[in-house]
Amino acid sequence: MSTVNARAFSAAQDFLLGAKKFWTTQMYPLLREQDQALETKTPVAERMQTSDLYPFYAWMERHLQRMKYAGRYGLVPWHETQRPALEAALARQDVPTVAGFQVPAYYPSFDVHQHPGGLMGDGLAGFVYERGARSTTPLDKHFDLHHRFTRQVGAFTKPQRILDLGCGFGKSTRPFAQQFAQAQVTATDLSMPCLKLAQHLDAQENIDKVRYLQADACATGLANASYDLVTSTMLLHELPTTHLAELFAQAHRLLEPGGWTVHLDFLPQVQPGADAFTHFIHAGHAKRNNEPYMPSLAAFDLKGHLQSLGFTDIRITPFAENDQALDSHYRFWRFPWTVVQARKPL
Ligand SMILES: C[S@@+](CC[C@H](N)C(=O)[O-])C[C@H]1O[C@@H](n2cnc3c(N)ncnc32)[C@H](O)[C@@H]1O
Repeated sequence: MSTVNARAFSAAQDFLLGAKKFWTTQMYPLLREQDQALETKTPVAERMQTSDLYPFYAWMERHLQRMKYAGRYGLVPWHETQRPALEAALARQDVPTVAGFQVPAYYPSFDVHQHPGGLMGDGLAGFVYERGARSTTPLDKHFDLHHRFTRQVGAFTKPQRILDLGCGFGKSTRPFAQQFAQAQVTATDLSMPCLKLAQHLDAQENIDKVRYLQADACATGLANASYDLVTSTMLLHELPTTHLAELFAQAHRLLEPGGWTVHLDFLPQVQPGADAFTHFIHAGHAKRNNEPYMPSLAAFDLKGHLQSLGFTDIRITPFAENDQALDSHYRFWRFPWTVVQARKPL
């Protein structure tokens, strides 16, 4: 039984968040400045071999995240101390599984985000993930990028039937349910602990219109042409290339003519001023955060694939997660947020 009390746990997590802010706002800009000052054309990986700062930068990225989840003050042991109450909260949630559901082999084969056991390994995995996600973007106090994204979607379409793929604990789904008050909303994920938590959190926010389903985003079994918006947030980079290709084929099948598929994810090449350093840092993040499919998403010909499926109005554009993020003088580390949108022709 853990001897960690709530105060010690909070203090340790606050310390880790403070260290992550230091990494984001001090270490990363300094590393970039130092690299830009080098007058050499050698590849970035070679330049980093001679950097005194890069090993500390990389160590911090890997191990702050590891300590967030595991170790004496980690999220996993802390939630273990609350197990009976948390399990009781979820016991009341019933989420259906689609017929023929299978967990794709890649999904449980590594600890995504360094989350021990991943998102399906334990009944409390959703709670652990939700708490961990609060500090994923350490500068965003209110973590409102999901609302920014839904507002951006609302600027070009007013959907009536929305499908949110890879919904996690509903963080991406609730803003759609709130912004498009008239719309019916379906949300799917592989992780039952996340889906149950999503439904539990909806109930706390008096949202009762989302239908959660356990389903592979690439094999939902939902009816043809039954949605006018198929969306995802931070799902594409979690899919192997074959799944990625299937996801868009399925979005095309599920959309009615005129419907939109719109995804918020990470593409370094789309960012203003992206260079070899940007790509190196992104690939390093993928390794250090256990995100094996981030590089294959960056290399995938999304536009060509969408065109080959018959989509039109294809736009792949950088997304500003805060008001300054896309300014040329913005110096802090950030995810290469990108919106991918396309329309099924009428
Ligand atoms: C980074 S999380 C994002 C969750 C949520 N959309 C959000 O914005 O907070 C990615 C989610 O995709 C889910 N996922 C990964 N592969 C999936 C698949 N093939 N089908 C459905 N969900 C999947 C994971 O379980 C996880 O909940």
